[in-house]
Amino acid sequence: MPLQEEFSLRLLAWHRRHGRHDLPWQNTRDPYRIWLSEIMLQQTQVSTVIPYYARFLARFPDIATLAAAAPEEVLALWAGLGYYARARNLHRCAQVLQGEHGGAFPKCAAEIATLPGIGRSTAAAIAAFAFGERAAILDGNVKRVLCRAFGIEGFPGRPAVERELWVLAESLLPDTGIEAYTQGIMDLGATLCTRSRPDCAICPLRDICVAQREGRQDALPAAKPAKAIPERHTDYCIFVARDRVLLERRPPAGIWGGLLCLPEGEPDALAASLGVEVVEREALAPLRHSFTHFRLTLHPLLCKVRAAPACGEGRFLWLPLGDAIDAGLPAPMLKLLAALKPA
Ligand code: ADE
Repeated sequence: MPLQEEFSLRLLAWHRRHGRHDLPWQNTRDPYRIWLSEIMLQQTQVSTVIPYYARFLARFPDIATLAAAAPEEVLALWAGLGYYARARNLHRCAQVLQGEHGGAFPKCAAEIATLPGIGRSTAAAIAAFAFGERAAILDGNVKRVLCRAFGIEGFPGRPAVERELWVLAESLLPDTGIEAYTQGIMDLGATLCTRSRPDCAICPLRDICVAQREGRQDALPAAKPAKAIPERHTDYCIFVARDRVLLERRPPAGIWGGLLCLPEGEPDALAASLGVEVVEREALAPLRHSFTHFRLTLHPLLCKVRAAPACGEGRFLWLPLGDAIDAGLPAPMLKLLAALKPA
């Protein structure tokens, strides 16, 4: 039997017995639900996604509801999941579907891939799960499985290697059962063929896998060529007036675009622009946070101010601490605010 066929038959048989069959986005053909899960699952683990997915669907059960929503509300339900461009694109995509596609998804992967925020692999996953199209996916987990099983050398993010992987991924698709095959290869990458310490002893591919045969699981896929990650440092003001804390809506572009955050920058200028007086200040412990392209050290400065306007104006908002914590802030901001919570 050709190696490609061997690969897909083994995966299908493994998925039947050992794959995941009852995740909240399975057992549906609704492309909206499938799309939402695929976007949430990018760079994010299943266990993290599940509660967000349920809350998001309860509030936005379909494309039309999402398209009509205020951007702040969409972002608030995404807050904590990170990679906020995903939420902005999701919202924009719902509006494009509503405005230009009659409120429904196109029915083939190539067309789905033209929508905002949907790449070739995500489009293929949607088309396979919702419409049964024989389309190949190639996310990070699948790249790892293919590099190991077929001994593909070179960093998979390099365009030449990626092209080779796409050709390979397409050559492996079974004639029938694309849904189970697609979920199976995702599940194998997420559960057995993990980046460190893969569980080769129980892997269905163990006796056709090049990395296993050569003991090169750690070397495949090849690591990204090292590049220094820039370090940034930013001051954040925690202005507190009695039980209220000051938040600022960030501009739409840049990190945490459109989200409520602690105001960034120097406290005296902020106090002057708001017309409040800082009566006490204290530097709190810095906090490190990693983004894809840089690392940020947040330097919080707690400032007690005398009197505050009732609720603020423009992009500034004075909120009771409990409300601020529930307002959909990014995770590092919540960590900074945690220092204020009474023990
Ligand atoms: N990661 C990306 N898509 C997924 C899916 N459908 N199920 C589980 N993990 C995934």
